[in-house]
Amino acid sequence: MRVLILGGDGYLGWPTVMDMAAKGHEVCAVDNYLRRNMAQETSSEALVPAPNLHDRAGIFRSVADKAVRVEIGDCADPQFMEALFQDFRPEAVVHYAEQPSGPYSMMGVREARRTFSNNLDATFNVIWSAIQFAPECHIIKLGTMGEYGTPNIDIEEGWLDVEHKGRSQKFLYPRQAGTLYHTTKVLDTDLLWFYVRAYGLRVTDLMQGPVYGLSTAESDMDERLLPNFHYDDIFGTVVNRFLVQAVAGIPLTVYGKGGQTRGYLNLKDTLQCVDLALKSPVDAGDLRILNQFTEQFSVNQLAGKVKQVGDRMGLNVAIKSIENPRKEPEEHYYNAAHSGLIELGLQPHYMTDDVVASMLEEVIRYKDRIDERKVLPRVKWS
Ligand SMILES: NC(=O)c1ccc[n+]([C@@H]2O[C@H](COP(=O)([O-])OP(=O)(O)OC[C@H]3O[C@@H](n4cnc5c(N)ncnc54)[C@H](O)[C@@H]3O)[C@@H](O)[C@H]2O)c1
Repeated sequence: MRVLILGGDGYLGWPTVMDMAAKGHEVCAVDNYLRRNMAQETSSEALVPAPNLHDRAGIFRSVADKAVRVEIGDCADPQFMEALFQDFRPEAVVHYAEQPSGPYSMMGVREARRTFSNNLDATFNVIWSAIQFAPECHIIKLGTMGEYGTPNIDIEEGWLDVEHKGRSQKFLYPRQAGTLYHTTKVLDTDLLWFYVRAYGLRVTDLMQGPVYGLSTAESDMDERLLPNFHYDDIFGTVVNRFLVQAVAGIPLTVYGKGGQTRGYLNLKDTLQCVDLALKSPVDAGDLRILNQFTEQFSVNQLAGKVKQVGDRMGLNVAIKSIENPRKEPEEHYYNAAHSGLIELGLQPHYMTDDVVASMLEEVIRYKDRIDERKVLPRVKWS
């Protein structure tokens, strides 16, 4: 298939580009280096500098003998997107091209506006470019479990049957996100649902939890093909921060009580999920929503896991609770359905001790590059 991957230089985008090309698809990877620029502007560079997208594609070609087309451009620019769709005529679009950091979106008005306009414009342009130039294509959009927030009832897979005064209807599950970034994803879902109803688009919206891991079949072939690894408080996930803190000898910083619970998944499973979605396209006029994670952990449980494995490796890991820079419930109910992708064939890679140990070993290789100033909170909500 002709697969257009938007955000192809990102943490998830680059491994997806390689995975799809390795599977024999004709892949076009698009990026405007927004993430690299924001990382530089906020002094949040990745642990290991990555070659640019053209160079990555060149290295992948020489290592795996697979060609990937690269386009550097802004998905928020309608002319760029329309020309791209007109030329490439994608049969599937994987849309990762957004500003994905909650803390970044909460830094101030400039960062909030940038998040808002970038994310909404990119999604709007995907929708309209598809309507005009590839109406049959399957749009696979990355949403986030953070769209649901932490409601005091079970989280369903996208939809909720509501009974009201003796009548009933299925609605989008109520969403109440905790950051502006997550709120842009809620708005994306609403936009997609509107255009699915109005124009018969085919859309899969993947509500993904935080992803961890660096190893994929292709990234393991050459260290220059490694995915980006951010460990700072703005772009790094809690797993990455804990791994780096364990290696650097800094206590693992649990925000507040540490009962914040989310669904996590291995990078290998993101690749599987996107591939499964691609292989089972939805009908025209359908919005399929799948909750994309494999296990739930609280922050305290994650810290405990990293400490247990780190101690066994001689790292002597400490855990410290610090004041929570975010506004969020620190203890709450959390039980989210996630059977849709398993039914499609997902075979999960769980966060075993071996997986944690291999991530720690990877960080240890680059220990000299750790900048300790990046791992403590620099952004406070409000
Ligand atoms: N990584 C996770 O744990 C996670 C969890 C849930 C959801 N997601 C979602 O998955 C997607 C990818 O996440 P990621 O972690 O790979 O983020 P990332 O920042 O590493 O990748 C996104 C890429 O898109 C590019 N991009 C952003 N706006 C663009 C634009 N207007 N034009 C062209 N390129 C643009 C960025 O430069 C970056 O390379 C995001 O939409 C994110 O919200 C990620």
